[in-house]
Amino acid sequence: MLIRGLTLQCRSIELDPPIGLQTGLMNDEQGNRSRQLALKLMLKSSSSSSWSAAAKEEEAAAEEERLSIPTGGRTMAIQHGSGLGLLHCVILLCSVGFLCFITAEAAVKKYQFNVQVKNVSRLCNAKPIVTVNGMFPGPTIYAREGDQVLINVTNSAQYNMSIHWHGLKQFRNGWADGPAYITQCPIKPSNSYTYAFNITGQRGTLWWHAHILWLRATVYGAIVIMPQTPAQFPFPQPHQETNIILGEWWNSDVETLVNQANQLGLPPPSSDAHTINGKPGPLFPCSEKHTFAMEVESGKTYLLRIINAALNDELFFAVAGHTMTVVEIDAVYTKPFATRAILIAPGQTTNVLVKADQLPDRYFMAAKPFMDAPVPVDNKTVTAILQYKGISTAILPKLPTSLPASNDTKFALDYASKLKSLNTAQFPANVPLKVDRHMFYTIGLGKNPCPSCQNDTKISASLNNITFVMPKVGLLQAHYFNTSGVFKTDFPDRPPKSFNYTGAPLTANLATSLGTRLSKLAFNTTVELVLQDTNLLTVESHPFHLHGYNFFVVGTGVGNFDQTKDPAKFNLVDPPERNTVGVPTGGWTAIRFRADNPGVWFMHCHLELHTMWGLKMAFVVEDGKSPEQKVLPPPSDLPPC
Ligand code: C2O
Repeated sequence: MLIRGLTLQCRSIELDPPIGLQTGLMNDEQGNRSRQLALKLMLKSSSSSSWSAAAKEEEAAAEEERLSIPTGGRTMAIQHGSGLGLLHCVILLCSVGFLCFITAEAAVKKYQFNVQVKNVSRLCNAKPIVTVNGMFPGPTIYAREGDQVLINVTNSAQYNMSIHWHGLKQFRNGWADGPAYITQCPIKPSNSYTYAFNITGQRGTLWWHAHILWLRATVYGAIVIMPQTPAQFPFPQPHQETNIILGEWWNSDVETLVNQANQLGLPPPSSDAHTINGKPGPLFPCSEKHTFAMEVESGKTYLLRIINAALNDELFFAVAGHTMTVVEIDAVYTKPFATRAILIAPGQTTNVLVKADQLPDRYFMAAKPFMDAPVPVDNKTVTAILQYKGISTAILPKLPTSLPASNDTKFALDYASKLKSLNTAQFPANVPLKVDRHMFYTIGLGKNPCPSCQNDTKISASLNNITFVMPKVGLLQAHYFNTSGVFKTDFPDRPPKSFNYTGAPLTANLATSLGTRLSKLAFNTTVELVLQDTNLLTVESHPFHLHGYNFFVVGTGVGNFDQTKDPAKFNLVDPPERNTVGVPTGGWTAIRFRADNPGVWFMHCHLELHTMWGLKMAFVVEDGKSPEQKVLPPPSDLPPC
């Protein structure tokens, strides 16, 4: 069956199938038929393959039933899109032996996202959650580099909604970026908005998630961008591939927990479980049926597209008995290196190759948090199963012994130091060598007065001691239409005063200043930004995400950044290029980027808790001189506030 790395044509629709099939399709929340199927896949060794043609057909049938796909491929793509209809089409055609045509032309990919509430049960507990198309995790967006993607989001839930396409650069097109009140006003209940964007100069794994409140707890999914030319991976072609989306699960309603916590001025409770593709795995109660499993054949190599969609936890991930080879991070190819475990922060993606080169058996894939600061964390291990073909599912899988200890700082730092851009002629690392603007931002927690809160204070967080205040209208609109009074552009390049950032914990004078203050960058400015963790209340590792850009991680270290010594050690040749970087606990990270994408671009800690507390700011990048260096006009359906 040839469905690998190709664009397939099916009922005259262009398709970008994954290599193999994700069992994300096989969602046990999708009705009885699917549930039975899931169980069958889990329990029966003969059909335990989530990737076998038979299973795919069955899954496709189940899905088709659920969607009641109308005739006419295009309608199907638009109305039931979610990519699933398309996928099934491929699966059915290919698996019954039809010819699959190879094309590599740019195409328009259309998806319909219905935001809707659905009852889902996990850990012996059912609750309503917000989903896209009733799926948890949501549908995967498949596209090819060069494609145009149109995703119509219809909000049938009771919350305001916005969706962010995490890691897509959205050149001149912040209107499709998604963070609520930064680039758009939310999509109100019963309203729709079409995110329209091109995928240019990017290929690999990214993801999408709700970008309002804590709704991304359940509203998230993968984005798979295939390279322009079929079979163009700069690493050995894998036999098949699958998505591994790491998430967090709370037994209670997340928005309720967060509201209660905010009234007290305290953090909400940690999650009750982590999940892999929405499933906690058999080590949790009532969860045997909520276990993700993939089947492998001895001697074959598989590509895992790992996404950390957790809200607050950096995670280690390992496969028992198997070595992984890292080949890509945040949709940028890396110099391949072998590792026994990966570390992945919320917001990040990591592609690894895994060769099925061990004794045929059943092995756990597992993830658990990395936490090397005195901060409470959901410390439980989520598991999924890597199962060799033909092995009885009655056999108990082996747990990885390769997962580092939760507080293994050394592993974290060593791992980060191994990440390097591929930096070839075809995939160069265009690191800005000359810096126009040097910035130094301190990351801090704080406490601000709150008479109604538990200790008369509420916890806050800040950059350069500024706690970002969300505006009531979209910042990009305010910028584009020159509306005054919405934001200021006086975000300082340095903290108000310097101190020993990473010495003993600082527990007094923790008030921060509040403001919607942005940093203005002239078009094409080259920026070096040092993010410095501090010991205000506590040190902690912070995954920082910049919208609208990738950046190069030119240096990192423990302790205080030393402007005289540290820059000499920067890697300006092949530093990792990414959209989210972990600033080490009590340390610093230096990033560089060229401000060549005009618009308003959010930058924040990707720990939802910290974002909520104000650990965020935005850059306003001015238009360049020529017309193709200016922000595009807003789409006509942009939601009003
Ligand atoms: Cu994935 Cu602004 O976030």
